[in-house]
Amino acid sequence: MSLSLLLFPALGFLLLLLSKKLTPPSLGCLISFYQNRHRLLTWYTELLSESENQTIVVHRLGAPRTIITANPDNVEYMLKSNFSNFPKGKPFTELLGDFLGLGIFNVDGHLWSLQRKLASHEFSTNSLRDFTVQVLADEVSGRLIPILENAAETNSVLDMQEVLRRFAFDTICQVSLGMDPSCLDMSRPVLPLSAAFDSASEISAMRGAAPVFAVWKLKRALNLGPEKDLKDAVKVVRGSVDEIILRKKEMMEDESGGDLLSRFLGAGMESEMVRDMVISFLMAGRDTTSAALTWLFWLLTNHRDIEQRAAEEIKIGSDLGYNDLKEMNFIKACLCETMRLYPPVVWDSKHAANDDVLPDGTPVFRGNRVTYFPYGMGRMEALWGKDRLEFRPDRWLDETGAVRMVSPYKFPVFQAGPRVCLGKEMAFIQMKYVVASVLRRFELVPVRDERPVYVPQLTAYMAGGFSVRVRRRGNVV
Ligand code: HEM
Ligand SMILES: *[C@@H]1O[C@H](CO)[C@@H](O)[C@H](O)[C@H]1NC(C)=O
Ligand SMILES: *[C@@H]1O[C@H](CO)[C@@H](O)[C@H](O)[C@H]1NC(C)=O
Repeated sequence: MSLSLLLFPALGFLLLLLSKKLTPPSLGCLISFYQNRHRLLTWYTELLSESENQTIVVHRLGAPRTIITANPDNVEYMLKSNFSNFPKGKPFTELLGDFLGLGIFNVDGHLWSLQRKLASHEFSTNSLRDFTVQVLADEVSGRLIPILENAAETNSVLDMQEVLRRFAFDTICQVSLGMDPSCLDMSRPVLPLSAAFDSASEISAMRGAAPVFAVWKLKRALNLGPEKDLKDAVKVVRGSVDEIILRKKEMMEDESGGDLLSRFLGAGMESEMVRDMVISFLMAGRDTTSAALTWLFWLLTNHRDIEQRAAEEIKIGSDLGYNDLKEMNFIKACLCETMRLYPPVVWDSKHAANDDVLPDGTPVFRGNRVTYFPYGMGRMEALWGKDRLEFRPDRWLDETGAVRMVSPYKFPVFQAGPRVCLGKEMAFIQMKYVVASVLRRFELVPVRDERPVYVPQLTAYMAGGFSVRVRRRGNVV
Protein backbone atom coordinates (compact mmCIF):
# COMPACT_ATOMS: atom_id res chain seq x y z
CA MET A 1 0.00 0.00 0.00
CA SER A 2 1.00 3.46 -0.50
CA LEU A 3 1.82 4.65 2.76
CA SER A 4 5.22 3.81 3.63
CA LEU A 5 6.50 5.01 0.46
CA LEU A 6 6.49 8.42 1.32
CA LEU A 7 8.24 8.65 4.38
CA PHE A 8 11.73 8.21 4.80
CA PRO A 9 12.52 6.06 2.21
CA ALA A 10 15.91 4.81 2.72
CA LEU A 11 17.28 8.00 1.83
CA GLY A 12 16.89 11.08 3.41
CA PHE A 13 18.82 10.24 6.35
CA LEU A 14 21.89 11.75 5.07
CA LEU A 15 20.10 15.00 5.28
CA LEU A 16 18.15 14.40 8.33
CA LEU A 17 18.32 16.75 11.23
CA LEU A 18 16.09 16.40 14.15
CA SER A 19 14.88 19.56 15.68
CA LYS A 20 15.57 20.80 19.15
CA LYS A 21 17.14 18.70 21.81
CA LEU A 22 17.57 15.72 19.57
CA THR A 23 21.14 15.58 18.44
CA PRO A 24 21.73 14.40 14.93
CA PRO A 25 23.28 10.96 14.89
CA SER A 26 26.77 10.53 13.55
CA LEU A 27 27.35 9.79 9.91
CA GLY A 28 28.44 6.21 10.59
CA CYS A 29 25.19 5.67 12.30
CA LEU A 30 23.26 7.11 9.38
CA ILE A 31 24.94 4.83 6.93
CA SER A 32 24.00 1.81 8.94
CA PHE A 33 20.41 2.97 8.98
CA TYR A 34 20.56 3.34 5.29
CA GLN A 35 21.48 -0.32 5.08
CA ASN A 36 19.04 -1.54 7.68
CA ARG A 37 15.76 0.08 7.16
CA HIS A 38 14.07 -1.92 9.84
CA ARG A 39 16.44 -0.49 12.43
CA LEU A 40 15.21 2.89 11.40
CA LEU A 41 11.84 1.90 12.77
CA THR A 42 13.39 1.08 16.13
CA TRP A 43 15.26 4.33 16.08
CA TYR A 44 12.15 6.41 15.43
CA THR A 45 10.29 4.46 18.06
CA GLU A 46 13.00 5.29 20.60
CA LEU A 47 13.01 8.97 19.69
CA LEU A 48 9.25 9.11 19.99
CA SER A 49 9.26 7.33 23.36
CA GLU A 50 11.83 9.78 24.68
CA SER A 51 9.94 12.83 23.42
CA GLU A 52 7.68 14.37 26.09
CA ASN A 53 5.04 14.79 23.43
CA GLN A 54 5.52 11.55 21.57
CA THR A 55 6.07 13.78 18.57
CA ILE A 56 9.24 14.61 16.63
CA VAL A 57 9.99 16.97 13.78
CA VAL A 58 12.24 15.89 10.91
CA HIS A 59 13.88 18.01 8.26
CA ARG A 60 15.01 16.58 5.00
CA LEU A 61 16.46 18.68 2.24
CA GLY A 62 14.00 19.27 -0.56
CA ALA A 63 11.11 17.67 1.29
CA PRO A 64 8.48 19.42 3.39
CA ARG A 65 9.00 19.78 7.15
CA THR A 66 7.75 16.50 8.56
CA ILE A 67 6.04 15.93 11.89
CA ILE A 68 5.96 12.34 13.07
CA THR A 69 3.59 11.54 15.87
CA ALA A 70 2.72 8.58 18.05
CA ASN A 71 0.45 10.65 20.27
CA PRO A 72 -3.17 9.39 20.11
CA ASP A 73 -4.59 12.89 20.70
CA ASN A 74 -2.69 14.19 17.69
CA VAL A 75 -3.75 11.18 15.64
CA GLU A 76 -7.40 11.77 16.50
CA TYR A 77 -7.04 15.44 15.62
CA MET A 78 -5.50 14.85 12.19
CA LEU A 79 -7.69 11.88 11.24
CA LYS A 80 -10.98 13.11 12.66
CA SER A 81 -11.39 16.40 14.53
CA ASN A 82 -9.74 18.50 11.85
CA PHE A 83 -9.91 15.95 9.04
CA SER A 84 -10.39 18.55 6.31
CA ASN A 85 -7.11 20.24 7.15
CA PHE A 86 -5.16 17.00 6.64
CA PRO A 87 -5.74 15.65 3.13
CA LYS A 88 -3.30 13.17 1.63
CA GLY A 89 -2.02 16.06 -0.45
CA LYS A 90 -0.23 16.39 -3.71
CA PRO A 91 3.25 15.18 -2.74
CA PHE A 92 1.61 11.89 -1.93
CA THR A 93 -1.05 11.56 -4.59
CA GLU A 94 1.40 12.45 -7.35
CA LEU A 95 3.51 9.41 -6.58
CA LEU A 96 0.71 6.94 -7.17
CA GLY A 97 -1.35 9.09 -9.50
CA ASP A 98 -0.03 7.68 -12.76
CA PHE A 99 -1.00 4.22 -11.56
CA LEU A 100 -4.12 4.78 -9.47
CA GLY A 101 -5.58 7.64 -11.50
CA LEU A 102 -8.55 9.16 -9.72
CA GLY A 103 -9.36 6.05 -7.68
CA ILE A 104 -10.62 6.36 -4.10
CA PHE A 105 -7.31 5.46 -2.53
CA ASN A 106 -5.47 8.34 -4.12
CA VAL A 107 -7.77 11.37 -4.23
CA ASP A 108 -8.99 13.97 -1.74
CA GLY A 109 -12.02 16.22 -1.45
CA HIS A 110 -15.11 15.84 -3.56
CA LEU A 111 -13.82 13.01 -5.76
CA TRP A 112 -12.96 11.05 -2.67
CA SER A 113 -16.22 11.60 -0.80
CA LEU A 114 -18.28 10.64 -3.83
CA GLN A 115 -16.52 7.28 -4.20
CA ARG A 116 -16.44 6.73 -0.47
CA LYS A 117 -20.22 7.09 -0.22
CA LEU A 118 -20.88 4.65 -3.01
CA ALA A 119 -18.35 2.13 -1.79
CA SER A 120 -19.42 2.36 1.87
CA HIS A 121 -22.92 1.54 0.82
CA GLU A 122 -21.81 -1.62 -0.97
CA PHE A 123 -19.49 -2.64 1.85
CA SER A 124 -22.33 -2.50 4.34
CA THR A 125 -24.48 -5.02 2.44
CA ASN A 126 -24.94 -8.62 3.57
CA SER A 127 -24.81 -9.68 -0.05
CA LEU A 128 -21.21 -8.50 -0.48
CA ARG A 129 -20.27 -10.23 2.76
CA ASP A 130 -21.87 -13.50 1.64
CA PHE A 131 -20.23 -13.23 -1.75
CA THR A 132 -16.85 -12.76 -0.05
CA VAL A 133 -17.31 -15.78 2.19
CA GLN A 134 -18.21 -17.88 -0.85
CA VAL A 135 -15.09 -16.73 -2.69
CA LEU A 136 -13.00 -17.61 0.36
CA ALA A 137 -14.58 -21.02 0.72
CA ASP A 138 -13.79 -21.90 -2.90
CA GLU A 139 -10.27 -20.53 -2.82
CA VAL A 140 -9.46 -22.33 0.45
CA SER A 141 -10.90 -25.72 -0.42
CA GLY A 142 -9.93 -25.66 -4.09
CA ARG A 143 -6.41 -24.27 -3.79
CA LEU A 144 -4.99 -23.45 -0.35
CA ILE A 145 -5.73 -26.76 1.38
CA PRO A 146 -4.53 -28.92 -1.54
CA ILE A 147 -1.23 -27.00 -1.63
CA LEU A 148 -0.68 -27.49 2.10
CA GLU A 149 -1.73 -31.13 1.89
CA ASN A 150 0.70 -31.74 -0.90
CA ALA A 151 3.51 -30.07 1.05
CA ALA A 152 2.69 -32.22 4.10
CA GLU A 153 2.72 -35.41 2.04
CA THR A 154 5.96 -34.71 0.22
CA ASN A 155 7.64 -33.00 3.20
CA SER A 156 8.59 -30.14 0.91
CA VAL A 157 9.42 -26.56 1.88
CA LEU A 158 6.79 -23.92 1.17
CA ASP A 159 7.15 -20.13 1.27
CA MET A 160 4.02 -19.38 3.25
CA GLN A 161 4.32 -15.64 2.61
CA GLU A 162 4.21 -16.19 -1.14
CA VAL A 163 1.30 -18.61 -0.83
CA LEU A 164 -0.66 -16.08 1.25
CA ARG A 165 0.10 -13.22 -1.16
CA ARG A 166 -1.17 -15.23 -4.11
CA PHE A 167 -4.19 -16.24 -2.11
CA ALA A 168 -4.93 -12.58 -1.31
CA PHE A 169 -4.58 -11.48 -4.92
CA ASP A 170 -6.90 -14.22 -6.17
CA THR A 171 -9.44 -13.29 -3.52
CA ILE A 172 -9.37 -9.52 -4.01
CA CYS A 173 -9.61 -9.93 -7.80
CA GLN A 174 -12.67 -12.12 -7.46
CA VAL A 175 -14.32 -9.76 -4.99
CA SER A 176 -13.45 -6.59 -6.91
CA LEU A 177 -13.59 -7.72 -10.54
CA GLY A 178 -15.50 -10.98 -10.52
CA MET A 179 -12.46 -12.45 -12.29
CA ASP A 180 -10.19 -15.23 -11.06
CA PRO A 181 -6.49 -14.78 -11.93
CA SER A 182 -5.65 -18.24 -10.49
CA CYS A 183 -2.34 -17.05 -9.05
CA LEU A 184 -2.36 -19.78 -6.44
CA ASP A 185 -2.52 -22.40 -9.14
CA MET A 186 1.21 -22.61 -9.79
CA SER A 187 0.74 -24.79 -12.84
CA ARG A 188 -0.83 -21.92 -14.80
CA PRO A 189 1.11 -19.12 -16.45
CA VAL A 190 1.06 -15.74 -14.68
CA LEU A 191 -1.65 -13.44 -16.05
CA PRO A 192 -0.40 -10.22 -17.63
CA LEU A 193 -2.63 -8.32 -15.19
CA SER A 194 -0.90 -9.86 -12.16
CA ALA A 195 2.59 -9.27 -13.45
CA ALA A 196 1.83 -5.70 -14.52
CA PHE A 197 0.16 -4.95 -11.20
CA ASP A 198 3.24 -6.09 -9.29
CA SER A 199 5.50 -4.08 -11.47
CA ALA A 200 3.40 -0.89 -11.37
CA SER A 201 3.14 -0.93 -7.57
CA GLU A 202 6.82 -1.63 -7.17
CA ILE A 203 7.93 1.20 -9.45
CA SER A 204 5.46 3.66 -7.89
CA ALA A 205 6.85 2.74 -4.49
CA MET A 206 10.40 3.27 -5.70
CA ARG A 207 9.53 6.82 -6.70
CA GLY A 208 9.08 7.72 -3.08
CA ALA A 209 12.12 5.81 -1.94
CA ALA A 210 14.75 7.29 -4.25
CA PRO A 211 17.64 8.97 -2.44
CA VAL A 212 16.98 12.25 -4.17
CA PHE A 213 13.58 13.73 -3.48
CA ALA A 214 11.26 13.68 -6.51
CA VAL A 215 13.99 12.79 -9.02
CA TRP A 216 11.42 10.50 -10.67
CA LYS A 217 9.72 13.54 -12.18
CA LEU A 218 12.74 14.18 -14.32
CA LYS A 219 12.90 10.54 -15.36
CA ARG A 220 9.22 10.60 -16.19
CA ALA A 221 9.64 13.67 -18.34
CA LEU A 222 12.37 11.87 -20.26
CA ASN A 223 10.52 8.54 -20.26
CA LEU A 224 13.60 6.84 -18.81
CA GLY A 225 14.15 3.38 -17.31
CA PRO A 226 11.62 2.56 -14.63
CA GLU A 227 9.33 5.40 -15.63
CA LYS A 228 8.94 3.86 -19.06
CA ASP A 229 8.29 0.44 -17.51
CA LEU A 230 5.70 2.02 -15.25
CA LYS A 231 3.91 3.52 -18.21
CA ASP A 232 3.85 0.13 -19.94
CA ALA A 233 2.65 -1.68 -16.83
CA VAL A 234 -0.13 0.83 -16.21
CA LYS A 235 -1.24 0.40 -19.81
CA VAL A 236 -1.55 -3.36 -19.28
CA VAL A 237 -3.41 -3.02 -15.96
CA ARG A 238 -5.87 -0.47 -17.35
CA GLY A 239 -6.29 -2.40 -20.59
CA SER A 240 -7.07 -5.62 -18.72
CA VAL A 241 -9.58 -3.94 -16.44
CA ASP A 242 -11.21 -2.10 -19.37
CA GLU A 243 -11.66 -5.42 -21.12
CA ILE A 244 -13.24 -6.96 -18.04
CA ILE A 245 -15.58 -3.98 -17.79
CA LEU A 246 -16.66 -4.38 -21.41
CA ARG A 247 -17.41 -8.06 -20.96
CA LYS A 248 -19.20 -7.37 -17.72
CA LYS A 249 -21.42 -4.77 -19.32
CA GLU A 250 -22.47 -7.25 -21.97
CA MET A 251 -23.18 -9.91 -19.39
CA MET A 252 -25.07 -7.57 -17.13
CA GLU A 253 -27.91 -7.44 -19.58
CA ASP A 254 -28.76 -10.96 -18.41
CA GLU A 255 -27.57 -11.11 -14.82
CA SER A 256 -25.65 -8.96 -12.41
CA GLY A 257 -22.70 -10.36 -10.43
CA GLY A 258 -21.95 -10.02 -6.73
CA ASP A 259 -18.54 -8.41 -7.28
CA LEU A 260 -17.77 -4.73 -6.70
CA LEU A 261 -17.32 -3.95 -10.37
CA SER A 262 -20.83 -5.15 -11.22
CA ARG A 263 -22.20 -3.21 -8.29
CA PHE A 264 -20.55 0.07 -9.26
CA LEU A 265 -21.57 -0.29 -12.89
CA GLY A 266 -25.07 -1.21 -11.77
CA ALA A 267 -25.17 2.03 -9.77
CA GLY A 268 -24.66 3.89 -13.04
CA MET A 269 -21.07 5.03 -12.52
CA GLU A 270 -19.10 5.72 -15.65
CA SER A 271 -16.53 3.22 -16.81
CA GLU A 272 -13.37 5.24 -16.28
CA MET A 273 -14.21 6.10 -12.69
CA VAL A 274 -15.12 2.47 -12.01
CA ARG A 275 -11.86 1.29 -13.53
CA ASP A 276 -9.77 3.54 -11.29
CA MET A 277 -11.86 2.62 -8.32
CA VAL A 278 -11.40 -1.12 -8.62
CA ILE A 279 -7.67 -0.69 -9.27
CA SER A 280 -7.56 1.12 -5.91
CA PHE A 281 -9.30 -1.83 -4.30
CA LEU A 282 -6.81 -4.29 -5.73
CA MET A 283 -3.99 -2.12 -4.44
CA ALA A 284 -5.47 -1.71 -0.96
CA GLY A 285 -6.68 -5.25 -0.46
CA ARG A 286 -3.77 -7.13 -1.87
CA ASP A 287 -0.71 -7.42 0.34
CA THR A 288 -2.16 -6.20 3.60
CA THR A 289 -3.97 -9.31 4.77
CA SER A 290 -1.16 -11.57 3.64
CA ALA A 291 1.38 -9.52 5.60
CA ALA A 292 -0.68 -9.80 8.80
CA LEU A 293 -1.23 -13.53 8.30
CA THR A 294 2.43 -14.26 7.60
CA TRP A 295 3.49 -12.63 10.88
CA LEU A 296 0.69 -14.31 12.79
CA PHE A 297 1.66 -17.78 11.59
CA TRP A 298 5.27 -17.08 12.48
CA LEU A 299 4.35 -15.82 15.95
CA LEU A 300 2.25 -18.92 16.56
CA THR A 301 5.17 -21.20 15.78
CA ASN A 302 6.93 -19.48 18.69
CA HIS A 303 3.94 -19.66 21.00
CA ARG A 304 2.55 -23.16 20.69
CA ASP A 305 0.35 -22.72 23.77
CA ILE A 306 -1.39 -19.77 22.13
CA GLU A 307 -1.65 -21.70 18.88
CA GLN A 308 -3.34 -24.54 20.78
CA ARG A 309 -5.90 -22.14 22.26
CA ALA A 310 -6.61 -20.68 18.81
CA ALA A 311 -7.07 -24.15 17.32
CA GLU A 312 -9.45 -25.09 20.14
CA GLU A 313 -11.65 -22.11 19.34
CA ILE A 314 -12.56 -23.60 15.96
CA LYS A 315 -15.69 -25.67 16.43
CA ILE A 316 -15.45 -29.24 15.27
CA GLY A 317 -17.46 -29.70 12.10
CA SER A 318 -17.99 -25.95 11.61
CA ASP A 319 -18.28 -24.97 7.96
CA LEU A 320 -16.85 -21.53 8.77
CA GLY A 321 -19.98 -19.64 7.86
CA TYR A 322 -20.25 -15.97 8.72
CA ASN A 323 -21.69 -16.66 12.18
CA ASP A 324 -18.85 -18.98 13.12
CA LEU A 325 -16.34 -16.42 11.90
CA LYS A 326 -17.99 -13.67 13.92
CA GLU A 327 -17.50 -15.63 17.12
CA MET A 328 -13.78 -16.26 16.90
CA ASN A 329 -12.73 -13.81 19.59
CA PHE A 330 -9.45 -15.41 20.51
CA ILE A 331 -8.34 -15.61 16.90
CA LYS A 332 -9.34 -11.97 16.44
CA ALA A 333 -7.28 -11.08 19.52
CA CYS A 334 -4.31 -12.94 17.99
CA LEU A 335 -4.72 -10.94 14.77
CA CYS A 336 -4.90 -7.59 16.58
CA GLU A 337 -1.91 -8.49 18.70
CA THR A 338 0.03 -9.45 15.58
CA MET A 339 -0.81 -6.17 13.83
CA ARG A 340 0.09 -4.19 16.94
CA LEU A 341 3.64 -5.54 16.71
CA TYR A 342 3.84 -5.93 12.92
CA PRO A 343 1.36 -3.54 11.30
CA PRO A 344 0.89 -4.20 7.58
CA VAL A 345 1.06 -0.44 6.97
CA VAL A 346 4.02 0.98 8.85
CA TRP A 347 3.22 4.68 8.63
CA ASP A 348 0.91 7.00 6.78
CA SER A 349 1.20 10.68 5.91
CA LYS A 350 -1.06 13.67 5.29
CA HIS A 351 -0.17 17.19 4.15
CA ALA A 352 -1.52 20.21 6.01
CA ALA A 353 -3.80 22.42 3.93
CA ASN A 354 -3.36 25.36 6.34
CA ASP A 355 -1.40 26.39 9.42
CA ASP A 356 -2.63 24.62 12.51
CA VAL A 357 -1.58 23.49 15.99
CA LEU A 358 -1.72 19.85 17.12
CA PRO A 359 -3.27 19.09 20.52
CA ASP A 360 0.18 18.60 22.08
CA GLY A 361 1.18 22.12 21.09
CA THR A 362 3.24 21.24 18.02
CA PRO A 363 2.81 23.93 15.37
CA VAL A 364 1.98 22.82 11.85
CA PHE A 365 2.59 24.99 8.80
CA ARG A 366 0.76 24.82 5.52
CA GLY A 367 2.30 22.12 3.31
CA ASN A 368 3.98 20.26 6.19
CA ARG A 369 3.86 16.52 6.12
CA VAL A 370 2.18 15.04 9.18
CA THR A 371 2.76 11.35 9.72
CA TYR A 372 1.26 8.97 12.23
CA PHE A 373 3.27 5.87 12.96
CA PRO A 374 1.37 2.69 13.86
CA TYR A 375 4.56 0.62 14.20
CA GLY A 376 6.02 2.91 16.86
CA MET A 377 2.68 3.29 18.61
CA GLY A 378 2.32 -0.47 18.98
CA ARG A 379 5.66 -0.61 20.78
CA MET A 380 5.29 2.37 23.05
CA GLU A 381 5.42 1.66 26.78
CA ALA A 382 3.22 4.67 27.48
CA LEU A 383 0.45 3.09 25.39
CA TRP A 384 0.79 -0.65 26.04
CA GLY A 385 2.73 -1.04 29.27
CA LYS A 386 5.94 -2.80 30.24
CA ASP A 387 5.14 -6.02 28.41
CA ARG A 388 4.62 -4.13 25.14
CA LEU A 389 7.12 -6.27 23.24
CA GLU A 390 5.49 -9.55 24.24
CA PHE A 391 2.97 -11.35 22.05
CA ARG A 392 0.06 -11.57 24.46
CA PRO A 393 -3.37 -11.81 22.75
CA ASP A 394 -5.08 -11.81 26.15
CA ARG A 395 -4.50 -8.08 26.43
CA TRP A 396 -7.28 -7.72 23.84
CA LEU A 397 -9.87 -9.72 25.81
CA ASP A 398 -12.01 -8.71 28.77
CA GLU A 399 -13.08 -11.00 31.66
CA THR A 400 -15.95 -12.44 29.62
CA GLY A 401 -13.68 -13.34 26.73
CA ALA A 402 -15.07 -10.60 24.45
CA VAL A 403 -12.71 -8.44 22.42
CA ARG A 404 -12.07 -5.13 24.23
CA MET A 405 -12.82 -1.83 22.58
CA VAL A 406 -9.52 -0.06 21.96
CA SER A 407 -9.42 3.47 20.61
CA PRO A 408 -8.59 3.42 16.89
CA TYR A 409 -6.43 6.50 17.52
CA LYS A 410 -4.24 4.47 19.86
CA PHE A 411 -4.24 1.52 17.41
CA PRO A 412 -4.52 3.15 13.95
CA VAL A 413 -3.44 0.12 11.90
CA PHE A 414 -6.52 0.56 9.71
CA GLN A 415 -6.24 4.34 9.91
CA ALA A 416 -9.31 5.87 11.66
CA GLY A 417 -11.93 8.58 11.25
CA PRO A 418 -13.81 9.29 7.99
CA ARG A 419 -11.10 7.65 5.91
CA VAL A 420 -10.72 4.48 7.97
CA CYS A 421 -9.93 1.39 5.88
CA LEU A 422 -13.06 0.41 3.99
CA GLY A 423 -12.04 -3.21 3.90
CA LYS A 424 -11.48 -3.66 7.63
CA GLU A 425 -14.39 -6.03 8.29
CA MET A 426 -13.72 -7.89 5.05
CA ALA A 427 -10.07 -8.22 6.04
CA PHE A 428 -10.96 -9.76 9.41
CA ILE A 429 -13.36 -12.21 7.77
CA GLN A 430 -10.67 -13.25 5.33
CA MET A 431 -7.92 -13.54 7.91
CA LYS A 432 -10.08 -15.51 10.34
CA TYR A 433 -11.15 -17.82 7.54
CA VAL A 434 -7.56 -18.58 6.61
CA VAL A 435 -6.32 -18.97 10.19
CA ALA A 436 -9.16 -21.32 11.09
CA SER A 437 -8.80 -23.39 7.90
CA VAL A 438 -5.07 -23.83 8.35
CA LEU A 439 -4.94 -24.38 12.12
CA ARG A 440 -7.65 -27.00 12.22
CA ARG A 441 -5.68 -29.23 9.85
CA PHE A 442 -2.02 -28.30 9.91
CA GLU A 443 0.94 -27.23 11.94
CA LEU A 444 3.65 -25.12 10.35
CA VAL A 445 7.29 -25.71 11.21
CA PRO A 446 9.71 -22.92 10.25
CA VAL A 447 12.78 -24.01 8.34
CA ARG A 448 14.97 -21.24 9.79
CA ASP A 449 15.56 -20.53 13.45
CA GLU A 450 16.46 -16.85 13.23
CA ARG A 451 14.03 -14.12 13.96
CA PRO A 452 12.65 -12.86 10.65
CA VAL A 453 13.21 -9.27 9.60
CA TYR A 454 10.28 -6.88 9.13
CA VAL A 455 10.77 -4.76 6.02
CA PRO A 456 8.74 -1.58 5.70
CA GLN A 457 7.83 -1.32 2.04
CA LEU A 458 4.53 -0.25 0.61
CA THR A 459 3.20 -2.87 2.91
CA ALA A 460 5.52 -4.49 5.36
CA TYR A 461 6.75 -7.96 4.52
CA MET A 462 9.03 -10.64 5.92
CA ALA A 463 12.49 -10.45 4.37
CA GLY A 464 13.34 -13.65 2.51
CA GLY A 465 9.81 -15.04 2.90
CA PHE A 466 8.53 -17.48 5.49
CA SER A 467 9.76 -20.98 4.65
CA VAL A 468 7.98 -23.77 6.45
CA ARG A 469 7.36 -27.48 6.39
CA VAL A 470 3.80 -28.58 6.89
CA ARG A 471 2.65 -31.30 9.30
CA ARG A 472 -0.85 -32.64 9.73
CA ARG A 473 -2.09 -31.51 13.12
CA GLY A 474 -1.83 -34.26 15.70
CA ASN A 475 1.11 -35.93 14.00
CA VAL A 476 4.33 -36.14 15.93
CA VAL A 477 6.79 -33.64 14.54
C1 HEM B 1 -5.10 -6.35 7.46
C2 HEM B 1 -5.56 -5.81 6.36
C3 HEM B 1 -5.64 -4.33 6.08
C4 HEM B 1 -5.03 -3.26 6.69
C5 HEM B 1 -4.06 -3.29 7.88
C6 HEM B 1 -5.46 -2.07 6.00
C7 HEM B 1 -5.05 -0.78 6.34
C8 HEM B 1 -5.46 0.37 5.67
C9 HEM B 1 -4.97 1.69 5.94
C10 HEM B 1 -3.89 2.06 6.95
C11 HEM B 1 -5.60 2.54 5.10
C12 HEM B 1 -5.37 4.05 4.96
C13 HEM B 1 -4.36 4.28 3.90
C14 HEM B 1 -4.25 5.67 3.45
O1 HEM B 1 -5.22 6.45 3.52
O2 HEM B 1 -3.18 6.04 2.96
C15 HEM B 1 -6.53 1.75 4.31
C16 HEM B 1 -7.36 2.28 3.35
C17 HEM B 1 -8.16 1.52 2.53
N1 HEM B 1 -8.32 0.15 2.57
FE1 HEM B 1 -7.44 -1.11 3.87
N2 HEM B 1 -6.33 -2.42 5.00
C18 HEM B 1 -6.46 -3.78 5.01
C19 HEM B 1 -7.25 -4.54 4.16
C20 HEM B 1 -8.07 -4.04 3.17
C21 HEM B 1 -8.89 -4.83 2.28
C22 HEM B 1 -8.99 -6.35 2.28
C23 HEM B 1 -9.51 -3.95 1.45
C24 HEM B 1 -10.44 -4.21 0.29
C25 HEM B 1 -11.49 -4.80 0.24
C26 HEM B 1 -9.12 -2.61 1.82
C27 HEM B 1 -9.58 -1.46 1.23
C28 HEM B 1 -9.19 -0.19 1.56
C29 HEM B 1 -9.62 1.00 0.85
C30 HEM B 1 -10.57 1.06 -0.32
C31 HEM B 1 -8.98 2.08 1.47
C32 HEM B 1 -9.10 3.56 1.09
C33 HEM B 1 -10.18 4.18 1.92
C34 HEM B 1 -10.34 5.68 1.68
O3 HEM B 1 -9.38 6.32 1.29
O4 HEM B 1 -11.45 6.18 1.93
N3 HEM B 1 -8.25 -2.70 2.87
N4 HEM B 1 -6.42 0.43 4.68
C1 LIG C 1 -8.55 23.24 11.76
O1 LIG C 1 -7.66 23.75 10.84
C2 LIG C 1 -7.82 25.10 10.51
C3 LIG C 1 -6.88 25.39 9.37
O2 LIG C 1 -7.40 24.86 8.19
C4 LIG C 1 -7.57 25.93 11.72
O3 LIG C 1 -7.65 27.32 11.41
C5 LIG C 1 -8.60 25.58 12.78
O4 LIG C 1 -8.31 26.23 13.98
C6 LIG C 1 -8.64 24.07 13.03
N1 LIG C 1 -9.89 23.70 13.65
C7 LIG C 1 -10.00 23.22 14.87
C8 LIG C 1 -11.32 22.65 15.25
O5 LIG C 1 -9.11 23.25 15.66
C1 LIG D 1 5.08 19.55 22.43
O1 LIG D 1 6.08 19.84 21.47
C2 LIG D 1 6.00 21.11 20.87
C3 LIG D 1 7.15 21.23 19.89
O2 LIG D 1 7.23 20.11 19.07
C4 LIG D 1 6.03 22.23 21.91
O3 LIG D 1 5.84 23.46 21.29
C5 LIG D 1 4.95 21.98 22.94
O4 LIG D 1 5.01 22.93 23.94
C6 LIG D 1 5.06 20.60 23.52
N1 LIG D 1 3.95 20.36 24.44
C7 LIG D 1 4.09 19.78 25.63
C8 LIG D 1 2.82 19.58 26.42
O5 LIG D 1 5.15 19.40 26.04
